[in-house]
Amino acid sequence: MPADTNAYGDIFGGWLVSLMDAAAGLIAARRAKGRAVTVAMDGMQFLHPVKVGDEVSVYGEITRVGRTSMTIQVEAWRRLRESEDTCKVTEAVFTFVAIDENGRPRPVGG
Ligand SMILES: CC(C)(COP(=O)(O)OP(=O)(O)OC[C@H]1O[C@@H](n2cnc3c(N)ncnc32)[C@H](O)[C@@H]1OP(=O)(O)O)[C@@H](O)C(=O)NCCC(=O)NCCS
Repeated sequence: MPADTNAYGDIFGGWLVSLMDAAAGLIAARRAKGRAVTVAMDGMQFLHPVKVGDEVSVYGEITRVGRTSMTIQVEAWRRLRESEDTCKVTEAVFTFVAIDENGRPRPVGG
């Protein structure tokens, strides 16, 4: 939407990062069956701009589970509003850590 754009009409990168972080957070909380926080975000690349009115889809999958951490690969795709044309606009690797009620790392569990 227009409120999410920069002065040139492209979507702010930070808006997209926020969406991807939220998506990864959902996946992490589901896997960890409880609270998990972002500890790192690596390999972020903006490949194409997102324009006002585009449909944005975010996909994520767990690629590694450690003792307390999870690695989640996230991609964002755009679709032109009135077309079937799609392309990947961004990707990044998020690391989430499962935490307990005191904010300390806890085992993710089987
Ligand atoms: C996440 C947090 C609890 C981890 O605490 P910590 O003392 O660094 O924990 P540890 O050193 O025991 O590491 C815990 C796990 O995270 C992993 N880890 C820590 N830093 C990492 C990094 N920069 N990249 C990838 N993995 C990392 C460790 O490898 C470990 O994984 P494992 O248990 O699967 O082997 C702490 O760093 C924290 O609270 N950070 C802030 C999180 C936050 O608020 N995020 C939102 C930002 S707005």
